[in-house]
Amino acid sequence: MTAQLHKLLVRQLRRAYGSPEAAPAGMEALLAVVSQAYADADADRTMIERSLELMSQELTQRNAQLQAELEERQRAREALELKSAEQQALIARLEEAHNQLLQSEKMASIGQLAAGVAHEINNPIGFVASNLSTMQQYAQTVVAIVDGLAALAPLEAGGLLEQHEWEYLREDMPALLDESGDGIRRVKQIVQDLKDFSHVDERAWQYADLHKGLDSTLNIVANEVKYVADVERQYGELPEVECHASQLNQVFMNVLVNAAHAIKGGPRGRIVVRTSQPDADHVLIEFRDNGSGIAPQHLPRIFDPFFTTKPVGSGTGLGLSLSWGIVRDHGGRIDVESQVGEGTTFRIVLPVQRLAGEAKPDVA
Ligand SMILES: Nc1ncnc2c1ncn2[C@@H]1O[C@H](COP(=O)(O)OP(=O)(O)O)[C@@H](O)[C@H]1O
Ligand SMILES: [Mg+2]
Repeated sequence: MTAQLHKLLVRQLRRAYGSPEAAPAGMEALLAVVSQAYADADADRTMIERSLELMSQELTQRNAQLQAELEERQRAREALELKSAEQQALIARLEEAHNQLLQSEKMASIGQLAAGVAHEINNPIGFVASNLSTMQQYAQTVVAIVDGLAALAPLEAGGLLEQHEWEYLREDMPALLDESGDGIRRVKQIVQDLKDFSHVDERAWQYADLHKGLDSTLNIVANEVKYVADVERQYGELPEVECHASQLNQVFMNVLVNAAHAIKGGPRGRIVVRTSQPDADHVLIEFRDNGSGIAPQHLPRIFDPFFTTKPVGSGTGLGLSLSWGIVRDHGGRIDVESQVGEGTTFRIVLPVQRLAGEAKPDVA
């Protein structure tokens, strides 16, 4: 009979009576019922365990699903952020292009205006210069005549000559004419610089002498520079460079004016413009100033459109970003090195020849 009893009951009987067979007689029915109860309890437990297991499995599955959903959402958010950053960059590029367009439009009209004025001034300057040189000859003749007459009739002429301060006149007249000739030559140079600077008639890429561009630009910005700094030109040997000369002149102008601004307010400074050829295919134009320098935290931002440390209304923050764009369009590079309190050096490297792959349509 023990064979049918539940094993736990058998164990308890063994503990109580030594062995199940030693159990008092007459308990068989009771033992059978108890054994059945044990068996039922076993079945119940197994079922509960099974359903618990099922539930746990379901929970694990649901958890994994949630995790996956979460990851999916995270991915979606990251993708969205990326898109948004891309759009932001695109907007910035568009803005830069727009500003560049505006600026080059402005420069083109200024150039046109300058060239127009230069053309108009050219004519009168021409005849004033020519008349002046004739006047100089006439003056010499007049001096010779008066001196001759004075020698012939010193008594008669003496009083008149003294009355009109002849000695002074004959000294001062050629000096005045010389000075005026100088003035006219300077005006002529300015007109020439304006023409060189604007290059309005020059719409295509062409080979240009960068030293000429630097000289005319230095003359144009002389007003900004001459009261704050001495300019030292250390020109090396340069081949002609294939470029948009007027655009490069704009770059030179921006960098030079910035250098003057960086020196202004301090003691009189120095700007060194140095040119050289690092290798056969490139030229290097270097602008070094001993101005205020650029703070390290500003350095990465100076080429950004609208970045300026100048007071509102004084700087547009566009000069360097435009310059950067122009140099890039020429297939070149513009680098900066600066030390606060020591000064700043801008280095512009340009290819001598426009690279074939970078050929762009000629836009005016
Ligand atoms: N030579 C320089 N020395 C010191 N700071 C400079 C120099 N060149 C440029 N910077 C800094 O870079 C900024 C941006 O220059 P730029 O784009 O020409 O704009 P802006 O001159 O209108 O401020 C300037 O405001 C200035 O802080
Ligand atoms: Mg500037």
